[in-house]
Formats: sequence, C-alpha cells, structure tokens
Amino acid sequence: MIGWWNLRRQTNPTPPTQIGIFYGSSTCYTEIAAERIQELLSHRATLHNIAHTALHRCAAYRTLLFGIPTWDYGELQEDWDSRWDELDALELTATDCAIFGLGDQHGYPLWFQDAMGYLHHRLAAQGAKLGGYWPNQGYKFQASKALTADGKQFLGLPLDYENQAELSDQRLRKWLTQLGLLEGAKANTGGAP
Ligand SMILES: Cc1cc2nc3c(=O)[nH]c(=O)nc-3n(C[C@H](O)[C@H](O)[C@H](O)COP(=O)(O)O)c2cc1C
Repeated sequence: MIGWWNLRRQTNPTPPTQIGIFYGSSTCYTEIAAERIQELLSHRATLHNIAHTALHRCAAYRTLLFGIPTWDYGELQEDWDSRWDELDALELTATDCAIFGLGDQHGYPLWFQDAMGYLHHRLAAQGAKLGGYWPNQGYKFQASKALTADGKQFLGLPLDYENQAELSDQRLRKWLTQLGLLEGAKANTGGAP
C-alpha cells in the first residue's frame, strides 16, 4: 500500500530543497566539490550528476549551482557536452545561478577554466541572474575564457584540486557566504582568496 507521503512524492516531484547543484565530472574532482558544497549547506541542496539527470530538472529550483570542469585544452567535459543543447530549453529569468569550475592552472595555463566561461555565456542567454564572480588574484595562468570583460574577475569560482587543493575549502566557504547561502562562515572577506 502507498502511504499519503509516498503518493504525494509520486504525483508531486518537487524536491525537498530549493537549491539544486548540477554538475558533470569525469575524474570526480567536481563531484567532490559538489558534495562539499552540499555538506557546507547542511544538506539544504540537492545534488544532481548530469550523467544521470537531464537539465530540465533545473526548473524545480530557485537557486542553481553548476559545477563544470574544463577538459582537453578548453573543451567541455563529456557529460556537459552531451547535455549542452538542453540548455536552450531552460527558462531561468527567475533563477539565481552561480558556477563553480574545476581546472588545472599549471597544466593548462592557456585554457584555464574555459568551460566556466562557455557555461556562463549560455546561462546568461537563458535569462539567468548570475552571481558568484571571483577575483583573479591567487591563480597563475596565461589565458582564460572565464573572465569578465575587464579581466579582473572570474565568472564563477575557480577551483584547482591539482595545484591548490588546500585552498578549496576556504574558497568554497567564502563563495557560499558571498552568495548569501552560508551564514557565519569563518571567511576572510578582504584581500585575495
Ligand atoms: C587531458 C586533460 C585535459 C585537461 N584540460 C584542461 C583545460 O583545458 N583547462 C583546465 O583548466 N583544466 C584542464 N584539465 C584539468 C581538469 O579540468 C581537472 O583535472 C579537473 O579537476 C577535472 O575535473 P573532473 O574530475 O570533475 O572531471 C585537463 C585535464 C586532463 C587530464
């Protein structure tokens, strides 16, 4: 027998949180970051690996955090590549969005975090209210397509687990605080991240 709660869950697919984290990940670094964000938000966010979840599920959330690594000299990660055309159908005008990117600034300094820039461009075209920009200080790279027009900020939070893993947690805390999703974090609000 189906209880009323299960019946309601079957007929109403509204998730239990208002924050959705959608990410693609080939070697688990973006997944580790996504899981850490969920943990920092005390499980107020629902995780979706886009290898298994279509992007139309974004419609269920008021706040969306997207995790995207850059692969193969400035290319999309394979799951993002597969789902890229699904972005066309998203209506995001009432949605707060922010992106966290994964990249390797020493290994790929000419393409650092490029995919974050591609995704930012696509989300902006769908009307998203984008936040979570991040100063470019504290990174060493030569070029990136994920920078604002003046080159001073990244269009989301760049994480680099290859070279700066030890900085990731404080960057995540500060970024979530900046987005207004985390209160009382011991974030250093001044200076370079
Ligand atoms: C073959 C290869 C190509 C890569 N190309 C880039 C690149 O162009 N730009 C970049 O910033 N990082 C690049 N990276 C680094 C990855 O983005 C980084 O390892 C990331 O953490 C992978 O995330 P994932 O494990 O979630 O897929 C590359 C890594 C590999 C192994």
